[in-house]
Amino acid sequence: MQKKQTTIIPPSTIIKNRYRVTQKIGQGSFGETYAAVDITTNESVAIKVERIDDKKMVLKQEVIAIKSLQLLACPYVVHYINSGRQDYFNFLVMERLGENLAELRKNRPTQVFSMCTSLRLGIQMIESLEGIHKLGYIHRDVKPSNFVMGHKSDPRKRRRAYLIDFGLARKFRSDTGEIRPPRKNAGFRGTARYASIASHYKRELGRVDDLWSVLYAVIEFLKGHLPWMKMKEKDMIGQVKERETNPNLCKDLPSEFVVFMEHLQKLEYADEPDYNLLKGLLLQIYVREGYNDEIPYDWQQVAAASPIPQQTHVSTDDVPNATSQRNTSTMENFSSSMRNSNASMTQLGRNNSDVKPSRHSLPANYNRAGTQVAEEVVPPVKPRDKKAKNCKSCTIM
Ligand SMILES: Nc1ncnc2c1ncn2[C@@H]1O[C@H](COP(=O)(O)OP(=O)(O)O)[C@@H](O)[C@H]1O
Ligand SMILES: [Mg+2]
Repeated sequence: MQKKQTTIIPPSTIIKNRYRVTQKIGQGSFGETYAAVDITTNESVAIKVERIDDKKMVLKQEVIAIKSLQLLACPYVVHYINSGRQDYFNFLVMERLGENLAELRKNRPTQVFSMCTSLRLGIQMIESLEGIHKLGYIHRDVKPSNFVMGHKSDPRKRRRAYLIDFGLARKFRSDTGEIRPPRKNAGFRGTARYASIASHYKRELGRVDDLWSVLYAVIEFLKGHLPWMKMKEKDMIGQVKERETNPNLCKDLPSEFVVFMEHLQKLEYADEPDYNLLKGLLLQIYVREGYNDEIPYDWQQVAAASPIPQQTHVSTDDVPNATSQRNTSTMENFSSSMRNSNASMTQLGRNNSDVKPSRHSLPANYNRAGTQVAEEVVPPVKPRDKKAKNCKSCTIM
């Protein structure tokens, strides 16, 4: 699907007498995202807009999902601020976060992230998905451009990755908490490069499918490519993906990635992934390699000190495919069960302190996290806001 190169609202537009638009920061198939300032508080915000005459209106569904997900005790989901309609467009106001992970990787000279950065991001990606799954939602468009780092001006948040873009999110549980029966033909959902094989077969997607996308994304972080990366045609991508999704895809990576893949291969639509196992596998590598939370992310290192502008994201291979009828019924509050079931990453780290070194060494292009930093290194952030306090497991940042 081609992205439309239009501008829905011009810079300087004032929304609801409160938000002054400054610049476009994202463009997707369904809408556009702008940076703006709340003129009553001077706070930076991000505003996603969609024309009301667009046949594929999805923003209202996104607003329902994002509002529901504010109940989440884990702080890895972008904060909702406001929503509504003005003139010819619907809008969603969110907290302003930083750059997305696709931009950050593409701006690396080698187009790869180090093992340390990739593992941290992977753990946070799983963590955020675990959170929304516990609330009964699946995301269905997990990919690097749908995770953004906290804004660099916010020392509490800039080392955390946040999940955004709930335009394709769907409730997989009914209001009574039952898993909804899978439809025979659910259509393709997601973005071809990162979608699970099940999505190519138009099967109903479950929790496992979000995690397949995490695996593909993390492999891409580390290797800089996926075997189907250059292909444009969705069905062709599906065929190559099916052929290539085997242990060989994890060649040259630590053996934990094969175990990760094997776990996903065992799961079907209704099955609950073992999040602790998956996070624990990545953490096992992290601990074995001697990484710690004070090591800067790759983009914080001096080598990457050239300013990276907030860019409009227009890559065509990163475009989500298809809209869907979304269930809009009230979601259930699974947050307490989430809190009860989450294992702390710190605990996992301790449990894994006696892990044996892997027989796999890191490939030459994986720069071990460097020592020089472009900006001050923030010590591991202890969650300070109320929501964060509830999240026992968010300790890797
Ligand atoms: N709250 C936010 N803060 C900062 N940047 C954002 C925010 N929301 C979205 N963006 C940027 O805009 C891009 C597009 O937003 P997204 O919600 O993914 O819309 P789309 O449906 O068009 O993919 C993201 O990849 C990200 O770079
Ligand atoms: Mg997006």
